[in-house]
Amino acid sequence: MSKDRLVVFDTTLRDGEQSPGASMTLEEKVRIGKVLERMQVDVIEAGFAIASQGDFESVKAVADTIQESRVCSLARAVDADIERAAEALKNANAGRIHTFIATSPIHMEYKLRMTPEQVIEQTIKAVKKARNLCEDVEFSCEDAGRSDVDFLCRVIEAAIDAGANTINIPDTVGYAVPLQFGEMIRQLLERVPNADKAVFSVHCHNDLGLAVANSLSAVAQGARQVECTINGLGERAGNASLEEIVMAVQTRPDFFDVVTNINTREIAPASRLVSSITGFPVQPNKAIVGANAFAHESGIHQDGVIKFRETYEIMKAEDVGWNANRMVLGKHSGRNAFRARLDELGIVLKSEMELNETFQRFKDLADKKHEIFDEDIQALISDILTAS
Ligand code: KIV
Ligand code: ZN
Repeated sequence: MSKDRLVVFDTTLRDGEQSPGASMTLEEKVRIGKVLERMQVDVIEAGFAIASQGDFESVKAVADTIQESRVCSLARAVDADIERAAEALKNANAGRIHTFIATSPIHMEYKLRMTPEQVIEQTIKAVKKARNLCEDVEFSCEDAGRSDVDFLCRVIEAAIDAGANTINIPDTVGYAVPLQFGEMIRQLLERVPNADKAVFSVHCHNDLGLAVANSLSAVAQGARQVECTINGLGERAGNASLEEIVMAVQTRPDFFDVVTNINTREIAPASRLVSSITGFPVQPNKAIVGANAFAHESGIHQDGVIKFRETYEIMKAEDVGWNANRMVLGKHSGRNAFRARLDELGIVLKSEMELNETFQRFKDLADKKHEIFDEDIQALISDILTAS
């Protein structure tokens, strides 16, 4: 049976940039946009056109440059925002206006100071306006994670009737937990009468460290677009990370009924580019893109991987754009890994005794040093050879 397509919507350039200290210049955004396009991201949210003149120009520059991915601009559910977004996207090969309004009681009462009925009216007006200017319109119920499901059903039905092609369910404050969020998506798909006329999307924030888990739970219940960022960059604790969602779906085809169009070999280069442009380092133990994500240090693991990679690897480093997996030589390493590294370095020892002696010296050194590099091994060998 053929699988559904999971649309990958990257918002590194919009929500990612809302990460304090992560602002990017127009040129940097275009560079990242090109990498996302090479990665075959379906939709690139390039910015919030009305936010500033700089944001407008950046959205426009990305829209003017990118040909293969759809380019999107965010807009509140007000005329001026929607018109500005349409203007920035004028030359896009494929554009999308993404309009939103909050639907949670707390946001409607304290932020918008609007009644639920007024929110529905404004939704209809905004989506119609956007549809007049662009054939692809996404509508988001901001703070859906804390919204009432009955009310969400009404807003979403109205938005789809008004012409929205994608309905996005954001967990704006990262409050949801996986089972509950998946159940919310399941109910919306079941209860919104015209749900089959739109793609349902999720947009999860990471305040409880659950953004990826919540997104995947929603996918398992029928969401067919995920909004995410490279390295999980984003407002506060960040957004769901693109690389983790894509690789989870790809690595567990037995569990997920979807496929993405992502060229996963572009993941590590994109991660490095975003990190170097924003100055946000990637933690070494970050899944998929952290320096240690494919590194093995313990002797037992190294021995297993040398014999058969899958013993301790569920994905291949090369598939996500790393050169190879990495055997870190340290105090936990065993003889097999040590011997393999000697082979790689072209070092031939005369006897098993010499190997034993070298291995012992390596272990002594490893007790004093976190990682043993090739230069350390070469120095060790030359010491032994000069002494003998
Ligand atoms: O987190 C959020 O609710 C958003 C919306 C504007 C989609 O970023
Ligand atoms: Zn967000």
